[in-house]
Amino acid sequence: MNKEQLASLAKDAMEKAYSPYSNYKVGAALLCKDGSVYTGCNVENASFSATNCAERTAFFKAVSEGKREFAAIAICGGKGGNIEGSFPPCGVCRQVMREFCKDDFEIHLLTKEVIETYTLSQLLPVSFQPDTIKKEDK
Ligand code: THU
Repeated sequence: MNKEQLASLAKDAMEKAYSPYSNYKVGAALLCKDGSVYTGCNVENASFSATNCAERTAFFKAVSEGKREFAAIAICGGKGGNIEGSFPPCGVCRQVMREFCKDDFEIHLLTKEVIETYTLSQLLPVSFQPDTIKKEDK
């Protein structure tokens, strides 16, 4: 699966967004190292705080199906599902990525024209991660 194919799946997932409050539609497609893909959309809530981002939807779907190793994620979003600029993952989603992904995990951000690619270590340097908590303290 190349980044264009992953991007296409993120766009399809974006159409499933439940976002009656912000009207922002966000989609994500998460590529596992075994080649399987899990998609996600943002799921908003009237409380606002219970809203789940597209990226975490994809991660939680995958982890709950037993996946633990991930290669890349494609993300897109925009008002009414109209992709203009990139829609970078929020800090909470970056932290969830850090729990399962290595420094070289690829994050593909769609814009109207191009796909911008970053690594997790670029988007979340000097991070708090599983290794930070020593095993004997767990
Ligand atoms: N959102 C995501 O789905 N992913 C992010 O990383 C940032 C924000 C969603 C949450 C909310 O439904 C909408 O975008 C506007 O904040």
